[in-house]
Amino acid sequence: MNVGLLGAGTVGGSLLEILARDGERISAVNGSPVRVTRVLEPDPSKHDRIRSFGAEIARDLEDILGDESIEVVVELVGRVDPSRDLIARALEGGKHVVTANKDLISEHLDELQEIARRRNVALLFEASVCAAIPLLKPLSGFLRSNRIRGIAGIVNGTCNYILTRMAETDSSLDEALAEAKRLGYAESDPSADITGLDAARKICILARLAYGLTVKPGDIQVEGIQGITLDDVRAGKSAGLTLKSIAEAVIVDEERRLVNVRVGPAYVPSDSQLASIRDSFNGVEIQGQPMDTLFFVGRGAGGLPTASAVLGDILEIQRLREAASALSSIQCRYRLLPREMMESRWFVRGSRPGLGEELARRGIPVETAGERSVLTGVTPDAELISAAGNLRESGFGGVRALRVYR
Ligand code: HSE
Repeated sequence: MNVGLLGAGTVGGSLLEILARDGERISAVNGSPVRVTRVLEPDPSKHDRIRSFGAEIARDLEDILGDESIEVVVELVGRVDPSRDLIARALEGGKHVVTANKDLISEHLDELQEIARRRNVALLFEASVCAAIPLLKPLSGFLRSNRIRGIAGIVNGTCNYILTRMAETDSSLDEALAEAKRLGYAESDPSADITGLDAARKICILARLAYGLTVKPGDIQVEGIQGITLDDVRAGKSAGLTLKSIAEAVIVDEERRLVNVRVGPAYVPSDSQLASIRDSFNGVEIQGQPMDTLFFVGRGAGGLPTASAVLGDILEIQRLREAASALSSIQCRYRLLPREMMESRWFVRGSRPGLGEELARRGIPVETAGERSVLTGVTPDAELISAAGNLRESGFGGVRALRVYR
């Protein structure tokens, strides 16, 4: 199976490396040789390395589309432009497409799938969510008989790496981010990681596959970790809580068919499974009926783990041969939970004693109150945010409130 590769950066370079090292075995598993024969890469400094893997440098996309021997186009350029156009043209040209591009898939899946369907080719994007972890295939395939009730967890390796370093080595957010960049975990624009946008893209893709719900990152509540301080991390730790960036797409009201889709920092109990997910690992819990709970853990960022998912999709094409779209059969019965209906438990800290009484006076259910910190019961987010703001205004200094997941 000949492959045309668009982009030989962190993931594309890793794909070439894996095939050079282990191509014979992979081809045997596939049942026919897997070779990257042409690569479109605008950076000339990468060309010698690409040629050393036995691939030719393509002048343009046409060079790949016009090559009848190429069946699969792998897009690893990233971003919406120019990838949207490159993929649309590849699909129109009758090539199967494999991509890791969550920016594009979270925004334009429907239109690209429509082309794939019409041209009877496959569009596969397992690598766009949680790198090495196979999540999309189980959701759209093996688990399809289940009624999915919730998906939640850690889907951004960079944020998880940063929060782990902050908790375990007292690194500042900036120091840990610099390290995540060096290790190849961060996006080319790392603000997408830090602001939660990258996780938002992934949870939107997961919501689409699990519920058929079309939501885009701009539709959902997204909070990043840019405002998180070492004090937030330490205060949680001493209360038995670990701070994580949690993405969730959870059915909160079956009768009204409401799904809560959001991303944001939240404390989880330090002895929970989610707290044990460290460094660039991701961990995602899927609840469904009749299966109950599944927990997926693996490397969520980095060249080799992401290339593993790309290769999985390339080999999947050999099995599919005809582009069957699992999505076409998902009927959407749900809608996005409006933000004013969101509610959570909160960990609130202040610099003065009496925080519990003050919050209770403002109608917030207090579950446990410490000297200067409070764990609330489930309360509407808007009410807690307004009570915390009200406390600050009335001179109750240093009030800080972050969600607790579950
Ligand atoms: N920047 C992403 C992350 C890469 O850190 O999770 C994998 O999607």
